[in-house]
Amino acid sequence: MKLIEVRSYEELSRVAADCIIDRVKSNPAIKLGLATGGTPVGTYRNLILDHEANGTAYRQATTFNLDEYVGLDPSNPGSYRYFMQERLFHWIDIPAGQTHVPSGVCSDPERECEAYEDLIRKAGGIDLQLLGIGGNGHIGFNEPGTSFHSLTHLVELDPSTREANARFFSSREEVPTHAITMGIRTIMDSREILLLVSGEGKRQALKQLLNGPVTEEFPASILQRHPHVTVIADSAALGRQ
Ligand code: GLP
Repeated sequence: MKLIEVRSYEELSRVAADCIIDRVKSNPAIKLGLATGGTPVGTYRNLILDHEANGTAYRQATTFNLDEYVGLDPSNPGSYRYFMQERLFHWIDIPAGQTHVPSGVCSDPERECEAYEDLIRKAGGIDLQLLGIGGNGHIGFNEPGTSFHSLTHLVELDPSTREANARFFSSREEVPTHAITMGIRTIMDSREILLLVSGEGKRQALKQLLNGPVTEEFPASILQRHPHVTVIADSAALGRQ
């Protein structure tokens, strides 16, 4: 894993956006894996600013988001589809049909998971996957204990994850209990991975990611075995301030 140390969240967001822009320019039909949560918000803001200023084109790009809450439809502000529309898709020139987020309101979640996995495979796999990390080491919504061989699947969320994500809802009770997420294997099959780690709250998780053992009890640890991972971490996450 390559580690890029930056001072601030602003710098992290700039460096991450520059990396994505570079890959999009050299491969306009790129298949991008995208993430939600607070961490990538600044990166998306920079992609939008660059699109406006420099016209980086996404017309041929295709995106696959990591995950979605079960029970929330795209018009629900808590849903990840809504988040992506608001934070990125609406502001760049990517055709709507080329953005993919698992459906949280399908009648048959098992089928939805298989169909999502198929869609990624038929697209030729993910070129660049953007990731955040949960305090407990989750990536996507792959909670501790998830098999490293998992494909897209239905999960029950850890109470600590629901607690951490409650800030995106008006009450804790509103945070869904289940989600659909790409599996660890789906993520590991990406050709390149960019993992963003920001803030003091992620210090322990970063330490474990960089130096801990590879174990299913800490899902992100498997990234140590991926051939092309870049971690961008700010001073607060690195414990240098
Ligand atoms: C959620 C998402 C993850 C994300 C994590 C960390 O659980 N499913 O993909 O990485 O939160 O979020 P944040 O960036 O807000 O700390």
